Amino acid sequence: MIAPSILSADFARLAEEADAVDNADWLHVDVMDAHFVPNLTLGLPVVQSLRKATALPLDCHLMIENPDRWAPPYAEAGAANVTFHVEAAGDPVQTARAIRGAGALAGLSVKPGTPLEPYLDVLKEFDTLLVMTVEPGFGGQAFMAEVLPKVRLAREHVKAGHLRLFVEVDGGIDANTIEAAAEAGADVFVAGSAVYNAADPAAAVDKLRAKARTSMAW
Ligand code: DX5
Ligand code: ZN
Repeated sequence: MIAPSILSADFARLAEEADAVDNADWLHVDVMDAHFVPNLTLGLPVVQSLRKATALPLDCHLMIENPDRWAPPYAEAGAANVTFHVEAAGDPVQTARAIRGAGALAGLSVKPGTPLEPYLDVLKEFDTLLVMTVEPGFGGQAFMAEVLPKVRLAREHVKAGHLRLFVEVDGGIDANTIEAAAEAGADVFVAGSAVYNAADPAAAVDKLRAKARTSMAW
């Protein structure tokens, strides 16, 4: 699945920017609170409006403190997937259950420096693992290939039947880097600048999907 990130879109024209990628699988919505990450973007009211403005499933990526308190309302607002950061969570299992209880998929995200091994058990409660391939906070950064061993590890656990998860990568995904991520085991690809800085965003989505497909031998 390809999930264009509206972080790289025109925030004054979000409905049109969503329409421009109506061939995408998910629409990735980066929520930043200027505390967990230095940047500030958008929050629940914008997600509630976006929900009415597009038929695309919303993939909310919460880069916020206290997700135990603030993540479930994104599921209640109609997000398809709500991902929060393990580094910020007090009780990730309880929060995942609340998200699922409100009807969304639950996602757990790890920053580049956060190892996966301590959370393999917790991930049984989740539908999505989001492996950050840049430091969260900003679009347009360079892809960090050094985190791909975490993608491989997650894919191994899914293949072995220990986990049932989408393995999503986010940050620096473009036509040059998507194949390495797909080969390592990712099946959901977030792309901000590679989609919205392209002359034809929908064509960029199709191109990324085609490139990923050829590398998903696993
Ligand atoms: C970064 C965000 C990403 C960002 C990716 O913290 O989580 O979703 O939009 O942007 P690109 O694809 O430009 O690296
Ligand atoms: Zn993101």
